[in-house]
Amino acid sequence: MVIVMNPDATREDADAIVALIAAAGGEAFVSRGVSRTIIGLVGDVTHFETLNLKSMRGVADVVRISTPYKLVSRENHPERSTVRVAGVPIGPDTVTLIAGPCAVETPEQTLEAALMARAAGATLLRGGAYKPRTSPYAFQGLGEAGLRILADVRAETGLPIVTEVVDAHDVELVASYADMLQVGTRNAQNFTLLQAVGAAGMPVMLKRGMNATIEEWLMAAEYIAQRGNLDIVLCERGIRTFETATRNTLDVSAVPMAQRLSHLPVIVDPSHSGGRRDLVLPLTRAAIAVGADGVIIDVHPHPEQALCDGPQALIRDDLDELSRAIRAFAPLMNRTLA
Ligand code: E4P
Ligand code: PEP
Repeated sequence: MVIVMNPDATREDADAIVALIAAAGGEAFVSRGVSRTIIGLVGDVTHFETLNLKSMRGVADVVRISTPYKLVSRENHPERSTVRVAGVPIGPDTVTLIAGPCAVETPEQTLEAALMARAAGATLLRGGAYKPRTSPYAFQGLGEAGLRILADVRAETGLPIVTEVVDAHDVELVASYADMLQVGTRNAQNFTLLQAVGAAGMPVMLKRGMNATIEEWLMAAEYIAQRGNLDIVLCERGIRTFETATRNTLDVSAVPMAQRLSHLPVIVDPSHSGGRRDLVLPLTRAAIAVGADGVIIDVHPHPEQALCDGPQALIRDDLDELSRAIRAFAPLMNRTLA
């Protein structure tokens, strides 16, 4: 951490800071330039942040050099991590395809979607039993009955389950069926939920908040990590911009950026990013080209009857092309299909 003093700051102003830092157990190194003094701080930065240094006399700015997140930071963990979900790897050597229905609607629809996903090369099944909807009148998911359907489909197809939990009170229940817990964009800064999934002892997929900066996203991941769970996969799913032609704007730069800042795997959701079936394939190609560790994709046997997000669901015909694209692009990035 570096403190930049005002040009008119006095020697006493700088001395007061040095004394405060010493009292806090740190060290402060004063460097006096021609027009400015800067003070470099060494020690527990998190503690220094509680000292209200910005409000001290003579201080122009306080600049943090290290990242505010520790456990998920790449600074302290240079090797990129691989997270295993019931044995399926998500990490730097592979492209993992997670696919399935947006929402679990019926046993038949879920099984059919899962078989379509598996045929395309998916190794994990997605599907929401608890749906966070904009409208309280929209389909909210089947709840535990949906989890039971997912468990039956897992038994039938062998595909481990990724499913969303929207309420901290439901974490234990959802975890008793799931192989990976999903925290969605709308709950990405629900800190109570993040702590609860962190304590669940199971891999977590954390979507980026639609309005969150990359730093806020990583701080959210830190909440999970702080509870002793480092099996976290970050998912870029598009952010809110001024553009309305697409549902959200896929922030492709967030993938390499998050991977540079954090050791956690980063996947992309091209379905919720574009919100349109015809964009899923090009956005998947883009995701793999920028180094995504996987993609998560909505599929539906009859999207025109879907109770949630039908316009972005892939049908059987689209999946062949998607599968071919992933198989062709993954080796170009020195990866195999997981
Ligand atoms: C994810 O699947 C969400 O539940 C869904 O995209 C929300 O869509 P809505 O804004 O139409 O409710
Ligand atoms: C989902 O994947 O089911 C979902 C709710 O996505 P998001 O949180 O990204 O909108």
